[in-house]
Order: sequence, then C-alpha cells, then structure tokens
Amino acid sequence: MKLKGRLKLIYDMIPQCDTLCDIGTDHALIPAYALLNKRCRRAIATDMRKGPLVQAKQTLKAYNLQSIMDLRLGNGLEAISMDEADVIVIAGMGGVLITELMGNQLDKAKKAKRIILQPMYAQEVVRPFLWQHGFTVIDEALTREGKKLYQVLAVVYDETASAPCMKDHLYEVIGEGLINNRDPLLEDWLCDRIKKQRKIVNGMRSAALPRPNLEQEEELLRDLESLRSKLFNNRGM
Ligand SMILES: C[S@@+](CC[C@H](N)C(=O)[O-])C[C@H]1O[C@@H](n2cnc3c(N)ncnc32)[C@H](O)[C@@H]1O
Repeated sequence: MKLKGRLKLIYDMIPQCDTLCDIGTDHALIPAYALLNKRCRRAIATDMRKGPLVQAKQTLKAYNLQSIMDLRLGNGLEAISMDEADVIVIAGMGGVLITELMGNQLDKAKKAKRIILQPMYAQEVVRPFLWQHGFTVIDEALTREGKKLYQVLAVVYDETASAPCMKDHLYEVIGEGLINNRDPLLEDWLCDRIKKQRKIVNGMRSAALPRPNLEQEEELLRDLESLRSKLFNNRGM
C-alpha cells in the first residue's frame, strides 16, 4: 500500500504510538498504513455510518489486519474509551464538526498524546477552539493534490497553559507554524485565502443589508495582503 498527498501528510504527523484511533475513518487507509509500517501496535477505526465501515472492513481483509484493528460504529470520540485515547486522527471533515467532536469529549481529547487534525474547510474555527481549550499546535504543514491545498495540524493539550490565549484574527486563518517553518506551499495558501477574502469583502460591500462585520473582514484582508507582501516581496498574484 502507498499513501500520497493529504493522507501521507496525515500519516507523517503520527508519532510512534501504542493505539491509533482514527475517527471518521471511511476507508481505514490511514490506520492500515500505520499498522503496516509499525507506526502503532494496534488501531481503532471508527465511523458513524455503516457504509464506510464496510469499506474499512475490506481494507482490513486485504491487508490481513483483522487481529490488530478494531472497527467501531459511533459518534466521534464516544466510540473510544478514556484509556484508549492515545494518538487520535480526525481528518477529512469540516472545521466546525472537528471542534464539536473534540468539544463533546474534551477529557478524552485532552488525554491524547497527540491529535492530528485535517479540516477540509472552515479551518478558521479550529484554532480559536484549540486556544480556548488549552491545546497547542506543535506542527503543521500543507500539501497539494491537483489544484487543492490541504492543511494538517498536530496538536497536544498543554496543561501548563494557564489562561485561554486568544491570538490575532490573522493567525486564525494562517497558521503561525506555516510561517515559522516557511512551508513551501505557504505563498499559494496565502494567495488562495486572499482571493477568498476579497470575495467575502466585495460581497459584503455590494449587499443591500447591514454589514456589521465589514470592517473586521476588510482588516483581515489588509492583514493577509501585508503578510504576503512582507514574506514574498510583493510578487504579483
Ligand atoms: C470525507 S470522510 C474522511 C475519511 C478519512 N478520515 C479521510 O481523511 O480520508 C469523512 C468520514 O467521517 C465520517 N463521520 C462524519 N461525522 C462523523 C461523526 N460524528 N463521528 C464519526 N464519523 C463521522 C463520515 O461518515 C465519513 O466516512
């Protein structure tokens, strides 16, 4: 089996561990690959729908992993117990759902050695949630599949973090880690986000209804543009 792109980046962020829990597994390719490469000793793959678990079962059979991977039907982290929360992957879902799944079972999320998150959209809701609940982003990176860029975050609960720490609006949408690591895809990510933000601002400016957030959205657009200029010397978009 070979993984590439998004799935490979998720796999690369998984540390050596005992039990890997893949929440919303669908095809179960991530835990299967982790087992085959001995990144973990056992795996639990969960999904809230039966259909994906049928697909996951086929992956298990194809690679003879039935004795070391459990398949479970259930909602989010409810499908695992407290002592099973070792390394958790929540990938391929929207940012809102990801924060709901973590928020609904916060004790389990806090107990994990590491959580790998891969929000497909609404990424900007994920970081404020993490900051509010004492999670720290310890690694993050981008990958490209065709035209689409994907972001993967590795987070840990940091019990020494005292008061909730809310950061700049800009860093809700562009991870500081991507800037610090000079991620090779950061400029593309920033350009995509600037285009999206221009659409939001232009849409608000032309709307007939009151636009209470317009100033805030304009400020975010200016911040994104100036970050891009600062990092990439005003190259044309
Ligand atoms: C797009 S797939 C992503 C599969 C895989 N994690 C990946 O990244 O390629 C999303 C999966 O999450 C499952 N899912 C959605 N909501 C869920 C929830 N509350 N609890 C568990 N699984 C859920 C869906 O049934 C679906 O199989």
